[in-house]
Amino acid sequence: KETFLKDYQPPAYLVDRVDLRIELDAQSTLVQSRLLCRPNQQTKKPLVLNGKRLEVVQVALNGSVLTRNRFTFTDGLLTIAHVPAEPFEVAVTTRINPAENTALEGLYLSSGNYCTQCEPEGFRTITCFPDRPDVMSVFTTTVIGDKTSCPVLLANGNLMASGDLDDGRHYATWHDPFPKPSYLFALVAGDLVRISDTFTTRSGRTVALHIYVEARNRDKCGHAMRSLKKAMRWDEEHFGREYDLDLYMIVAVDDFNMGAMENKGLNVFNSKYVLALPETATDADYEGIEAVIAHEYFHNWTGNRITCRDWFQLSLKEGLTVFRDQEFTADMSSRPVKRIEDVNIIRSLQFREDSGPMAHPVRPPSFVEINNFYTLTVYNKGAEVIRMLFTLLGAETFRQGMDIYFDRHDGQAVTCDDFVAAMETAWGKDLSQFKRWYSQAGTPELTVTGHYSAADQQFILEIEQSCPPTRESVVKEPFFMPIAIGLLDENGNALPVNTDAGTGTDTDTKMLILSEQRQQYFFPNITSKPTVSFLRNFSAPVKVHHAQSEEELHRLMTHDTDPFNRWEAGQTLSLRHILEQIANFQHQQPISIRHRLVRGLRDFLLDTDLDPAFTAMAVTLPTENWIGQQMTIIDPVAIFSVRQQFRAQIGLQLRDELLQRYHDLTGDIPYQYNAVEAARRTLRNTCLAYLLAPEIGGRLTPELLQLGTEQYQRSDNMTDSIAALGCVVNADAAAGAALLADFYTKWQHDPLVVDKWLALQAGCSLPGTLEHVKNLTGHASFSIKNPNKVRALIATFCATNHNQFHAADGHGYCFLGDQVIRLDPLNPQIAARMLTPLTQWRRYDPTRQQMMCEQLERIRRQPLVSDDVQEVVDRSLQK
Ligand code: ARG
Ligand code: ZN
Repeated sequence: KETFLKDYQPPAYLVDRVDLRIELDAQSTLVQSRLLCRPNQQTKKPLVLNGKRLEVVQVALNGSVLTRNRFTFTDGLLTIAHVPAEPFEVAVTTRINPAENTALEGLYLSSGNYCTQCEPEGFRTITCFPDRPDVMSVFTTTVIGDKTSCPVLLANGNLMASGDLDDGRHYATWHDPFPKPSYLFALVAGDLVRISDTFTTRSGRTVALHIYVEARNRDKCGHAMRSLKKAMRWDEEHFGREYDLDLYMIVAVDDFNMGAMENKGLNVFNSKYVLALPETATDADYEGIEAVIAHEYFHNWTGNRITCRDWFQLSLKEGLTVFRDQEFTADMSSRPVKRIEDVNIIRSLQFREDSGPMAHPVRPPSFVEINNFYTLTVYNKGAEVIRMLFTLLGAETFRQGMDIYFDRHDGQAVTCDDFVAAMETAWGKDLSQFKRWYSQAGTPELTVTGHYSAADQQFILEIEQSCPPTRESVVKEPFFMPIAIGLLDENGNALPVNTDAGTGTDTDTKMLILSEQRQQYFFPNITSKPTVSFLRNFSAPVKVHHAQSEEELHRLMTHDTDPFNRWEAGQTLSLRHILEQIANFQHQQPISIRHRLVRGLRDFLLDTDLDPAFTAMAVTLPTENWIGQQMTIIDPVAIFSVRQQFRAQIGLQLRDELLQRYHDLTGDIPYQYNAVEAARRTLRNTCLAYLLAPEIGGRLTPELLQLGTEQYQRSDNMTDSIAALGCVVNADAAAGAALLADFYTKWQHDPLVVDKWLALQAGCSLPGTLEHVKNLTGHASFSIKNPNKVRALIATFCATNHNQFHAADGHGYCFLGDQVIRLDPLNPQIAARMLTPLTQWRRYDPTRQQMMCEQLERIRRQPLVSDDVQEVVDRSLQK
């Protein structure tokens, strides 16, 4: 059942108008739909509509009911063999069961309220329709519901009419004037309260902004509303994009498979990305809300006004919109820190995906279940591809390219090629080689060598690129990419490498273009051997092999003008030391941390001229995932042990400095979420985490434990209390248990805070966590039907607690197998996602490989396996 990009065919019929009448009932919702259809081709083909998990009650053509021999409904397709050659009307009545919908796709209930998730192929579970994004229609939706249980009735667009029916029900009719694909349809109904505000667009139109939540969350929407207004202003200022309807609605629901959904005029959000109060949400949550609200808002232009021709083009809207939300967040907070965070995601997670069995290009050539391709590759690598275009063209030309894209394609369903073509027009140069980023999977690797000739006063930089084979292509053609570099002299001063740059431009950074498999770049008039600052700002999503001396790395760490590479040099140094000690650990040699590394971290820590958020990143050791990526055989126990030992040693050796900064960074105003205050808290909590990092099997002094306990008890906000709680929980089982009990008593009524409580326990690095997690799956607060709960407890353990998930006895794998088997019949999308850690089995030693495969085989043997899980398991086990 694999679908291929190369088989794309335009739709046989278009639907100009859709009229929906939806009578809500928990077990038996009746959906009547009237489609105004029009042939899109000369040839007379049957009309084929998608329909899944629904009962077809009646089908009519141009007003007459079709008898059963005039249409078929099998294998998810409703087919009417004979339809007129002129425009015609099809009316379909279907019956569905929202209460039974645990897949959270289509129309379902969340906390007793109705909501929808139609992207990518959920609309076909509501009614029969050509459920593909290149069919764009004007929707009118009448929602009918019970007045007491559903006082609020919402759909896309503007409210046209509403009123009472004589049977105790009421109705509301919504009309969306913008043609849209079915995946952007939304309906919400239930007992919700509304928070209202307005936004005046730059052309002077007033837009009503409504956030709908359950009554108990009424006071938690302020930050989301402020974020929305910031995003609306930012898109006007940076991309010249204005909102187009008079109403923008956001609804928060507790049961949601992903982060949020950009349905036209009616976004549906995971409540995690809406609700926040200082006492319940951390700075990271505040930043996440601002980013996701912006992301969904930005989709109105990059996704809704211009949409995808087919789902292979998903990155057309997702990569671009992630790029836009990254830029927005950079403007709202610290640009270098945001860049470091994004690069960490790419290198720790996307590179891993790119080297495993699920590796696929930014534009996948085929899929079995499209839901499996909402990935780090499509989203985050897709954003890196857009960012490379931004880097190559420069901000101004890139903006012109965006304007051309909007002008050319507004109202259309297009492809990634159309996007690149708009950029080509703006740039005036050919980008056909660049497009290999869309068709070749895998992470390119660059090998860098420098040759200095004192006699010629010349420096030559040589770059060679390669890319490992992946499923869709074994032999890779060279990629086209921007490589930003700088050169530093022996004192760390920047050498002017960009001499042909105009005035006012950065003369420190040279943008090289790599397009061949091997290329040399010449730098004249270099009077001494330079230190290369390579791939500044991570200008391309690649792995770099570059033999630099410790001295050079220290020079970059202290003097580079590119903040990203200052951070990067420190990470490279740490990584080298960690890998060296991992080898010791594996040979039962004692582990030690080098003094020079500690001193480097100390210099960062004491440099009060730096942004504290940057300092926090600079003193944080590389992630376990990123360390693992460097190893031929990942040894999760060695990685954890060495990293943990380093952390404990840093805490001990820099104790005075850490305490000093910890106290200096104490805030004296009540909690506020802004870049400066959040940065202060981040560094302060980073200091606390070092101070409370225990040696493996070791105990902390009561004074240090007390420092954590006191912060937990005294703080007025979730950021500081959960940070302190986490430190204590990971340092001392007894003290941790006491605080966890206190925390639960205090917050058991708040689902999002309970998620944090579950995640903290699942991520605990002290022994015995698996048993504890198993017990928690039976706890009153846990529900396997709620994706946030599953992510908090099961995914946190299996995907982040590497040391214990990969325990030598294989119990972690068995636990994950059990959970996937339990989850798959309920929610296939989430079940398939939970499998990610097992897909990586080839990276481990033979014993672990075998145990991981056993679980995959066991899942495959289940009597009913969803397409979602089947595809991931099959690809993982493929030879
Ligand atoms: N378009 C949404 C976003 O990126 C994601 C929705 C995907 N949903 C899904 N079930 N795969 O904002
Ligand atoms: Zn998106």
